[in-house]
Amino acid sequence: MPGTCVIGLQWGDEAKGKIVDLLTREHDFVVRYQGGANAGHTVVVDNQTYKLSLLPSGILTPGVTCVIASGVVLNPARVIEELDELAQRGAGNPENLRISDRAHVIFPWHFAEDRAFDKNTSDGENIGTTGRGIGPCYRDKVGRSHAVRLGDLYRSSIRQRIEHIVEAKNRSLAALYPAGEFQPLDASSIHKQYADYAERLRPHVCDTTELLLSAAEDGRRLLFEGAQGALLDVDHGTYPFVTSSNSSGVGISSGSGVPARFINRVLGVVKAYSTRVGGGPFPTELDNPTGQYLRDRGNEYGTVTRRPRRCGWLDVVAVRYTSRLSGVDAIAVMLLDVLSGLDEVKICTAYEIDGKRTMRFPSHVDDVRRVQPVYETLPGWKEEVTTCRSFEALPPNAQAYLRRVSELIGRPIQMVSVGPDREQSILISKS
Ligand code: IMP
Repeated sequence: MPGTCVIGLQWGDEAKGKIVDLLTREHDFVVRYQGGANAGHTVVVDNQTYKLSLLPSGILTPGVTCVIASGVVLNPARVIEELDELAQRGAGNPENLRISDRAHVIFPWHFAEDRAFDKNTSDGENIGTTGRGIGPCYRDKVGRSHAVRLGDLYRSSIRQRIEHIVEAKNRSLAALYPAGEFQPLDASSIHKQYADYAERLRPHVCDTTELLLSAAEDGRRLLFEGAQGALLDVDHGTYPFVTSSNSSGVGISSGSGVPARFINRVLGVVKAYSTRVGGGPFPTELDNPTGQYLRDRGNEYGTVTRRPRRCGWLDVVAVRYTSRLSGVDAIAVMLLDVLSGLDEVKICTAYEIDGKRTMRFPSHVDDVRRVQPVYETLPGWKEEVTTCRSFEALPPNAQAYLRRVSELIGRPIQMVSVGPDREQSILISKS
């Protein structure tokens, strides 16, 4: 059985790019299947840092076919920029990139709509989107009448289609923006620009569903690279403070076209603490010097937007929920090095809501807002761990922390990351 997938179990930014990079060499295909340029994956190879939004991290490994599958919303300009940047640096293997002709395309109106709609209308708290047009593009995909898929850009009807959409979008956007603030979009220049993008991407565009189905049936090894984190899943996360795709494990098949029977290993990725960027409830958030300590040591600023991330203790109630939801077999714990230097570390082991203790992650955002985290406190460790290369080499208190985390989540820890480099990784066969 050939399929592995890597899923973030928190609110994104779990350093999944590093795990994908480590696993890539054991696979023939690396597949992005949801989200878009809202994701930011950082991979450090030979002291060189690569920040990728849309290209699968596997693009840096020779001999691996990298697929942007049908469930992704594609900003063609961004893909081209990333390809150009890799070419300038003499890195990557662009000839191995395949992009689905079914992927929906992000247009200028999606950015304008993202800016206008970024409000949770129920209580006024902003969702705090990345502003990359993700939600509006998915909305059009589901709505169908104003959607464009990558394959449409190669049809003669595309000019007329863009004219039709621009006419409607200009009307609705003018109503959304205060008078004079919205500059009407020009269909003919958009058509020209997207025709250029389409030509540039032509060698990469194909039916990736067929490609991946054939690969899976032939026993090729597929690695699915989840973007964002499971708590941002549109159906199962902290709705409406979520992204617009299925970012938990449930999205793999719908986004890639590969049935679940081909996926035999799910690796859940968690930070040794929690972060969140954008709005929405965050039960273990630390709005205090410890939170700032985590932000500084973890360089917790968005890869895509550079926004400071909100930081807090590890929330096992949330991670146990998302591990179950994504069918996680084993866990990778990332950024353990960030916790060094603290006198004590805390793990949220349960929630209290209306005086009752529960391990259940609430389905309604108002209840997530109301929970009181119940903490277990463990002694911290002063030693830096960035040079540790085995579990036994870690300070005893760090080992105890990891054992407890694994026990509480109910999954073995297979890998611990102690720094951004490929080498700063500890593989654990049994924990
Ligand atoms: P959108 O995906 O841009 O619509 O943003 C919706 C929510 O998901 C916002 O709170 C974003 O901050 C969050 N989000 C989207 N992508 C990422 C990511 O890659 N990492 C962390 N948060 C993200």
